[in-house]
Amino acid sequence: MKVLGIETSCDETGVAVYDTDAGLRAHALYSQIALHAEYGGVVPELASRDHVRKLLPLIRQTLAEAGLGIEDLDGVAYTAGPGLVGALLVGAGVARALAWALEVPAIGVHHMEGHLLAPLLEDDPAGRPQPPFVALLVSGGHTQLIHVEAIGRYRLLGETLDDAAGEAFDKTAKLMGLPYPGGPQLAMLAERGRPQAFRFSRPMTDRPGLDFSFSGLKTQVLLAWRDSDQADRTRADVARGFEDAVVDTLAIKCGRALDAAGCDTLVVAGGVGANKRLRARLQAMAEQRGGRVAFPRPAFCTDNGAMIAFAGALRLQAGQHDDASVRVTPRWDMASLQPVASG
Ligand code: KG4
Ligand code: ZN
Repeated sequence: MKVLGIETSCDETGVAVYDTDAGLRAHALYSQIALHAEYGGVVPELASRDHVRKLLPLIRQTLAEAGLGIEDLDGVAYTAGPGLVGALLVGAGVARALAWALEVPAIGVHHMEGHLLAPLLEDDPAGRPQPPFVALLVSGGHTQLIHVEAIGRYRLLGETLDDAAGEAFDKTAKLMGLPYPGGPQLAMLAERGRPQAFRFSRPMTDRPGLDFSFSGLKTQVLLAWRDSDQADRTRADVARGFEDAVVDTLAIKCGRALDAAGCDTLVVAGGVGANKRLRARLQAMAEQRGGRVAFPRPAFCTDNGAMIAFAGALRLQAGQHDDASVRVTPRWDMASLQPVASG
């Protein structure tokens, strides 16, 4: 089954074709980062308009790269939420219209389920991590530990009480004067920083529980940066101290979550999953425990169409689809999803 996936929930237009027999056939991404940079954040109306401009050309490009005609598609999957309502409606409208014209089923995918399943998307079905496992979702909007009892059955084990991990990266980068979007830039800077030059706390690791809090850490960095000489070398050292604190905190809680759920497999997804030090740290932890950790390739950690095509394909293949109305769900609890029958 060949499924077209469309992602337009925020500031990236992503398109891909996933084939349930042959795997990922092609994918393309257009990032609006430059468009929003001068405003220091995503401007929803500008995002919607840019999705309108870019989506159809990207669909044509992706199909051409896959060597497919539009009539070869057997289904369409699109991000139906959570996200910016106007941006979501662009993807949903195009997906629904295509499915209607081609007389194929279409399904609205939960954006975070897309992220969560991305670590599975490039394995062949036999080598894929099988539920139950624990997922760490770390993006600009979410920091969650989830017990994946089955595909589609998600139980929240812990989440952030304030800032998401990616948001903490972005805000910390901003307060040290790095350009938007700061997370990846801060991580690059941290590579040059000395470990232990600055030591920040590992929030909420001194007590039991699986929740996170990153806003206090950001304040600690702010104070340390203000009182420093603000030299380039210091900026790198502070970045390293901050990154180590976040990575350590995430790793400690992942270990606890695996214990709590009785699992030995961890999957990691979302933009912060692209962080090199986090990947190395979780890999080492998994090896030490005799378990396994799965990540998507870095390009599929951040928003993309491939994860939506894949998550949609699993559901369409199991016989699920939505009715023909164009509907999006800007706020959507993952626990309310339908499980996907395996087989
Ligand atoms: O999943 P994503 O693309 O968008 C959301 O749905 O939020 O994640 C974006 C987030 C941003 O906060 C960005 O700063 C962060 O992921 N991020 C990183 C890295 N690459 C992206 N954070 C730390 N290290 C990175 N290498
Ligand atoms: Zn995302």
